[in-house]
Amino acid sequence: MKVLVGSLSIFVGGALFAGFPGATDARLKAIQGYRSWTKVNAKPVSMAPSVAVLCAAIPPPKWRDPSPHIGKFFTVYVNATGRTAMLSDETKPFPVGTVIVKEKVPAVGQDVLKQTPGTKVELLTVMIKRDKGFDPGNGDWEYFAVSGDAKAVISKDVKHCQDCHRSQKSSDYVYRDYPRSASRR
Ligand code: HEC
Repeated sequence: MKVLVGSLSIFVGGALFAGFPGATDARLKAIQGYRSWTKVNAKPVSMAPSVAVLCAAIPPPKWRDPSPHIGKFFTVYVNATGRTAMLSDETKPFPVGTVIVKEKVPAVGQDVLKQTPGTKVELLTVMIKRDKGFDPGNGDWEYFAVSGDAKAVISKDVKHCQDCHRSQKSSDYVYRDYPRSASRR
């Protein structure tokens, strides 16, 4: 009985977060095996503290100065559809079907300048290029956040994602401002 109650609450919890289970499945399916895709930055990149705090699943209650100890490192992966646009020197629109996953791990170490990337994946933030008309005001990108184990969509409101990424409209809403050394392979 305990087991039954436990799994029931997991189900209800999942449904509450995701809206309805079918939508979650499609989004999780889209990122399946992302670690075998093109790794855009060869080494994890240290994230600016302000972005580490705000580029999260759930926005903080209000704008505040992030502590320098909330360090994160990130690695970006892109699927085969978006590879050329991601690695190109010019900025070009990403083709429909592009999936970009930004994987975050904690920064380890007290000294901010000497921190190294931890191994436990804490969060995945994802962009999927949908068909024309999906969301024209946001470049037809779908935004969502996924638990580090890639098992649950955990974002409800993605307005804060879109607000930041709109500043990158000229590069199709994608920052691409990290070393993209995969291009040299
Ligand atoms: C505070 C601004 C901010 C917010 C909020 C934000 N992002 Fe980002 N995002 C960035 C920046 C800056 C980068 C570039 C990498 C870096 O410096 O961390 C980035 C990179 C990414 C990337 C890699 C592709 C790229 O643009 O280069 C994905 C995918 C992504 N973000 C998804 C999301 C999702 C999903 C959300 C919401 C859950 C979100 N972001 C919220 C600022 C933000």
